[in-house]
Amino acid sequence: MITFSDDPRLPDDVTIADLRDLAERLAREAGALVRAGRPDRVEVASTKSNDVDIVTQMDADSEQLLRRMIAQERPDDAILGEEEGASAGTSGLTWVIDPIDGTVNYLYGVSSYAISVAVVAGDPDPASWTVLAGAVHSVVDDRTWTAGIGGGATLDGVPVTVNPVTDLGRALVGTGFGYDPRRRAEQGRVLAELLPRIRDVRRLGAAAIDLCLVASGELDLYYERGLNPWDLAAGSIVAHEAGAHVGGLRNGPAGEAMTVAGAPEGARALTTILEELDADSGW
Ligand code: IPD
Repeated sequence: MITFSDDPRLPDDVTIADLRDLAERLAREAGALVRAGRPDRVEVASTKSNDVDIVTQMDADSEQLLRRMIAQERPDDAILGEEEGASAGTSGLTWVIDPIDGTVNYLYGVSSYAISVAVVAGDPDPASWTVLAGAVHSVVDDRTWTAGIGGGATLDGVPVTVNPVTDLGRALVGTGFGYDPRRRAEQGRVLAELLPRIRDVRRLGAAAIDLCLVASGELDLYYERGLNPWDLAAGSIVAHEAGAHVGGLRNGPAGEAMTVAGAPEGARALTTILEELDADSGW
């Protein structure tokens, strides 16, 4: 689960600004690899939870690059990556990396995919995290959002803030769906109830980018059930630092059960509807 603290405990050898810079360098470097190395026809290397939950060779290569760079620059930090899981550290910091968020878009050549890199205080167990800094690099359009706790959020170096949302009926809302068909059926039920009450919905296919689009006002709100920590960590601090409320339902933190992000009043209105719809229960 994701929380934020304005007074986090850091190792003596590093500042939030250092961590933010490193997150950005990591995300950009892996982005350059992914951009340069995309073959005309991408093959599926393996599958995970089911046949449509895929891994490509580039997911593995990008994660390898990120792990090598982190080991060189911060050898005592732990790492949690989408493809290789957790490796322990001793510093109290964990890098949470998604080597390609939006892998299905990458497979098909749809332009919304990103490298997501966050650093959190805590061990690789996502129950205990405070997010410190993060960067999301959108590969095809070469845009990078970064944030550090207390230091604001930027897109390509320019500060960003969320859109105010006073009327849910005019809000453009991003969301996404899990890979499990039973989960999707539930998500479809919730969306069918929500859709008549908002401006429209966007399903762009990369949760890290969705959260960053909220930060830069290209979406008003975002919600999704079932996010993994690597989908969520970097985008959540970018949205938080851009002025978003990032939380779960029933006063809980953002996490696997539900993530809602957006300007506080709008996020509150959306959260109320999702609670009424029991969007965080069942499959
Ligand atoms: C997925 C994407 C998608 C979201 C899924 C995620 P992946 O991540 O972020 O937008 O709806 O919940 O699992 O598999 O492309 O890294």
